[in-house]
Amino acid sequence: IDVDLEALAHRSRKLDARPLRHVHRMPPPVRRFVNVLVLVGLLALVLAGLAAAGNGGLAPPEPASPNAADIRSVYWLILLVTGGIFVLVEGALFLFVIRYRSRGRPREIEGPQVRGHTNLELAWTAGPVVILAVIAGFVFYKISSINDTNAQGATTAEQIRVEGHQFYWEFVYPNGAISIDRLKLPYKRAVRLHIVSDDVNHSWWVPALDGKLDAIPGKANYLSFLPDKLGTFTGQCAEFCGVQHAAMIAHVEVVPRPQYEAYVRERAATKHGLGKEIFVGVCAKCHGLAGQGQIGPAIAQSPILQDRQGLTTLLRNGRGLMPAVGKNWTDDQIDTLRAYLKQRF
Ligand code: CUA
Repeated sequence: IDVDLEALAHRSRKLDARPLRHVHRMPPPVRRFVNVLVLVGLLALVLAGLAAAGNGGLAPPEPASPNAADIRSVYWLILLVTGGIFVLVEGALFLFVIRYRSRGRPREIEGPQVRGHTNLELAWTAGPVVILAVIAGFVFYKISSINDTNAQGATTAEQIRVEGHQFYWEFVYPNGAISIDRLKLPYKRAVRLHIVSDDVNHSWWVPALDGKLDAIPGKANYLSFLPDKLGTFTGQCAEFCGVQHAAMIAHVEVVPRPQYEAYVRERAATKHGLGKEIFVGVCAKCHGLAGQGQIGPAIAQSPILQDRQGLTTLLRNGRGLMPAVGKNWTDDQIDTLRAYLKQRF
């Protein structure tokens, strides 16, 4: 191909030499200073974010079960590998940007040509395969213990039903006792959660105890773990389920076994405290803690609170924007709530 290189080079020089009327070019030292300033500013922002988050921003919460500890170790391995790759790639990028910069070389002159490097190319082809094999191998090795409580010395698991509702969690214990938003678990006894939903998808997630599992209408999901730390652990519905999704917070209290047994026995027999729990967990999230109205209308003065049939119908079927919160409640549950509402309002 016959190309007049000399003419092309001349043309490009002419283009370069055209005065820029509308762009104010900064002199190189000023530009460099501005670049450094922007870079330092960005770096400061990144570091400030990390410092503010502390360890809580980087690591999952302290595990309170061997299952959560296993999930955490998988997390650390993946963070280590991806962190190493990040440093390697960004480091190489900076190195190349600095080492192969133009140093005032005219545009039409090509820079130094770098030829292939067989060993390096083999390394970056085989390296990722090995890394992915290590990650997959480690995850498969851990997976069996993440969702297996038998391997951890538990024989019979405590079976608890977890129902996701708009916008609360209902827990049903083996003896029929019920609690709302606050789950009590026996210390060092394996638990098997039977996770369901009656309305829309929700997701059960208490990171300190185990992984995330969805509550799906028409499907039962099971989550097994062994709580081995006393204390209260917070969970959050992890599937957007409507306006009050963010209010679907669960507190899981791991208590010594005798205390757990006493709690479920008392709950099943007397329902002590359940009425208030239902009001706070179910009604107040939309109607306000004083029934003053929030995203739902005010209910404190509503005559329906005194109307047994009307209230039951409303709770069981919902109305307008109000979900059918009490669709599968027992009459006992509704009476417990009515007794609390009567005393409160
Ligand atoms: Cu339930 Cu989000």
